[in-house]
Amino acid sequence: MPKLFTEGHVPDPVAEGVLSAMKSVLGLTSGTVPLHEPEFRGREAEYVKDCIDTGWVSSVGSYVDRIEVDLARIIGVERAVAVVNGTAALQVCLELAGVKAGDEVLIPALTFIAAANAVSYVGARPHFVDSEDRTLGVDAVKLDRHLAGHAELREDVCVNRRTGASIRALVVMHVFGHPSEMDDLCAVAKRWNLVVIEDAAESLGSFYKGQHTGGRGLLAALSFNGNKVVTTGGGGAILTNDPELGRRAKHLTTTARTPHRWNFLHDEVGYNYRMPNLNAALGCAQLERLDGMLARKRRLAERYATAFEGVPGVRLLKEPRGSTSNYWLNAIILADSNLVTRDRLLERLNDAGYMSRPIWTLLHRLPMYADCPRADLSVAENLEARVINIPSSARLAD
Ligand SMILES: Cc1ncc(COP(=O)(O)O)c(C=O)c1O
Repeated sequence: MPKLFTEGHVPDPVAEGVLSAMKSVLGLTSGTVPLHEPEFRGREAEYVKDCIDTGWVSSVGSYVDRIEVDLARIIGVERAVAVVNGTAALQVCLELAGVKAGDEVLIPALTFIAAANAVSYVGARPHFVDSEDRTLGVDAVKLDRHLAGHAELREDVCVNRRTGASIRALVVMHVFGHPSEMDDLCAVAKRWNLVVIEDAAESLGSFYKGQHTGGRGLLAALSFNGNKVVTTGGGGAILTNDPELGRRAKHLTTTARTPHRWNFLHDEVGYNYRMPNLNAALGCAQLERLDGMLARKRRLAERYATAFEGVPGVRLLKEPRGSTSNYWLNAIILADSNLVTRDRLLERLNDAGYMSRPIWTLLHRLPMYADCPRADLSVAENLEARVINIPSSARLAD
């Protein structure tokens, strides 16, 4: 029997309520219920075997072309370019957006580290902004207020008055699959002449006011890491509606080689970032089952919503009004912002076999980003001690 009450646990009504809600959805477990498992129930093995049988396992092959066409169709964008991972996709998005060494890029402090690292790879500096607690995405009102207080437009370029650096772009992220408030964010970006890049790594299958996430910014990045709704093992994609940027994305990520039957001619410093055919094969099979996976993830989220109704001191994060979320990772939000309480609950959940994780450590707390420019981050700082992800695999709603 798994232990719901380990020695030394003081009765805690929030923890008891959360554990009993989890038990009602997931049942008791003698092992561990993972946070998010990939599932291969379709033609994955067949397509991967096809690569092995034909020898097309590496940098070219029909599955790479196919996954790019499939993604563009599913998301409704002009072009999708398949790459090695989501971080590489973000890096190339920033480069294509015109971000240069010495620039600043606005990114939420409450996000996965990939965005900050990608900004660093292009020689720029993250400039951290706050989030809102409805979507967990960037707060457009606070962003506008921050820029009004700290930046100005000089010849149409947004400049940080204190550092003198150009602020070139805004990266927004759809946290756990819940779309950010894109209308408001795009309006602020327009006012300050910022390029919008969507980090849609977590939001394949999520829609903002009927439009698939990733189709609104000038460029967007997807991830197909093993923990995402759809996986290619490792992989990512760059999305854009601009045909010329799409062409540039393909060129830059395929060593900037110019077409020739046998010569190796490269016309700029490119990257070897293309997705191998083997990985694309896995992804093509996964995409065939995307709708079914999304339906089961939604069903799981509904079961959690019912189970958490009335549990004191905690709420389940729900899709924002007007949006459809893929519910990639379900999250509970504690009423109290207290790291000790959060960690005690994490211990209880993990001890009971329900794998649970806190939200990311805010990026400005990490040593390499501690000195970066930042706005008031009070909402993100408050959320950091309140958000816990709970098991979210589609199979849990079979
Ligand atoms: C929000 C976000 N951005 C970017 C990435 C990076 O993707 P990858 O791991 O494929 O590099 C991830 C996850 O892995 C992510 O969750």
